[in-house]
Amino acid sequence: MDEAPGSVEVGSGEPLVVLDHVNKHFGDLHVLEDINLTVRRGEVVVVIGPSGAGKSTLCRAINRLETIDSGTISVDGVKLPDEGKALAQLRADVGMVFQSFNLFAHKTILENVTLGPTQVRHTPKRQAREQAMALLERVGVANQSDKLPAQLSGGQQQRVAIARSLAMQPKVMLFDEPTSALDPEMINEVLDVMTDLAKDGMTMIVVTHEMGFARKAANRVVFMADGRVMEEATPEEFFTNPQTSRAQDFLSKILTH
Ligand SMILES: Nc1ncnc2c1ncn2[C@@H]1O[C@H](COP(=O)(O)OP(=O)(O)OP(=O)(O)O)[C@@H](O)[C@H]1O
Ligand SMILES: [Mg+2]
Repeated sequence: MDEAPGSVEVGSGEPLVVLDHVNKHFGDLHVLEDINLTVRRGEVVVVIGPSGAGKSTLCRAINRLETIDSGTISVDGVKLPDEGKALAQLRADVGMVFQSFNLFAHKTILENVTLGPTQVRHTPKRQAREQAMALLERVGVANQSDKLPAQLSGGQQQRVAIARSLAMQPKVMLFDEPTSALDPEMINEVLDVMTDLAKDGMTMIVVTHEMGFARKAANRVVFMADGRVMEEATPEEFFTNPQTSRAQDFLSKILTH
């Protein structure tokens, strides 16, 4: 059970997301400093690190919500486009789930999930509805499909947000602290959905402080601090034998409570 899902074949998957010497500044702040990172198809990478490390900026750069100053980022062999149709295509290929659920408040749960496929992928309405209902079933909220987001719990809304991303049939899913705005009793229902996704072979980059998830679902842990990747290791290696003092310090703080 401790074996990370797909850990045997992971090494052989082809590179899906590749960051090569990526740099980004916010004014004087070097927020991403020479980041080199390869995520292979089917791999689950958990990114952890202290506040301000650049984890969200990294995710946002991969989805081209932030520009970078130098270096390259490519997804499935294609360098991130600057704008236009190619950018819309990239956004469809790279799903993103944020801390805040960002559902369309005035649309039903079902409409939230069908909107992207019908408008961006030009999926026929009926087919989009069928696929959306199957996804809502998968994340356990199919019986809420006619409600508005505000009528659902935070955990349910976040599961809808995951279904909405999946509806675009993304090649990779980014999660930026998807459970940190949730009440404790709702965290596991979201993590369970994510763990199932990982088991199903979805390529995932997950920023989280949920170390249980990292141990259970990650093939690799990337530890960031001060805009840099300080360590990359399997969860087992990282949690039992962190190499840098920054990582040791970080782990001692989060693992004691
Ligand atoms: N739009 C922005 N303009 C200026 N500075 C920014 C901007 N966005 C982020 N920063 C700064 O960049 C640094 C990295 O921010 P980022 O949000 O990527 O960190 P993080 O690792 O996600 O932190 P947290 O764990 O708190 O979410 C921080 O010092 C932050 O203040
Ligand atoms: Mg962040």
